[in-house]
Amino acid sequence: MRPIASEEELRAVITINEVTLPEHYPYFFWYEHYELWRDIFLVAVVGGKIVGYNMCRMEMGIGHIKRGIVKQGHVVSIAVLPEYRRRGIATALMLRAMDSMKNKYGAAEVYLEVRVSNEPAIRLYEKLGFKKVKVLRGYYLDGEDAYLMAREL
Ligand code: ACO
Ligand code: ZN
Repeated sequence: MRPIASEEELRAVITINEVTLPEHYPYFFWYEHYELWRDIFLVAVVGGKIVGYNMCRMEMGIGHIKRGIVKQGHVVSIAVLPEYRRRGIATALMLRAMDSMKNKYGAAEVYLEVRVSNEPAIRLYEKLGFKKVKVLRGYYLDGEDAYLMAREL
């Protein structure tokens, strides 16, 4: 688990996103996170190959767990290649990102959105102490709802 290091690695991350998730983003969106929040844009490397990523950002917003306006880490997109799942890679990517959100950026909480049907991801987040805060109706382009899940840091 380490911060992403180059634009070449960014291209590898985008390829993983394309094969693992229906949510894709324009290049500038990836690049913005790469430029601004590299400490919390992490890659998992196995045998020299990038097999997973966790792209996060920092925001100020109304707390999902705490009251008032707080610094929030936002997990924008996380994925692990199918052949490398159930080995704790996503857990390690999340723990490292949450540590940096708290200790480098002073985040008070962390949040994310996840498809209500995405049981593997929901279990991962619940295991990490996230709670379902609310349902975002029709959040995804295909009409599926999202859970907003959050945790104090
Ligand atoms: N079924 C049930 N529980 C699961 C599953 C599964 N298929 N996968 C993970 N979990 C739960 C388990 O509790 C697991 O612990 P255990 O293996 O000890 O039982 C725990 O999550 C931790 O699993 P990890 O090994 O750390 O997770 P992994 O590296 O396999 O990655 C991930 C999980 C990221 C959800 C992976 O399945 C994936 O890439 N899925 C496709 C992309 C995706 O859905 N990303 C999340 C979208 S939401 C967002 O990006 C904010
Ligand atoms: Zn989001």
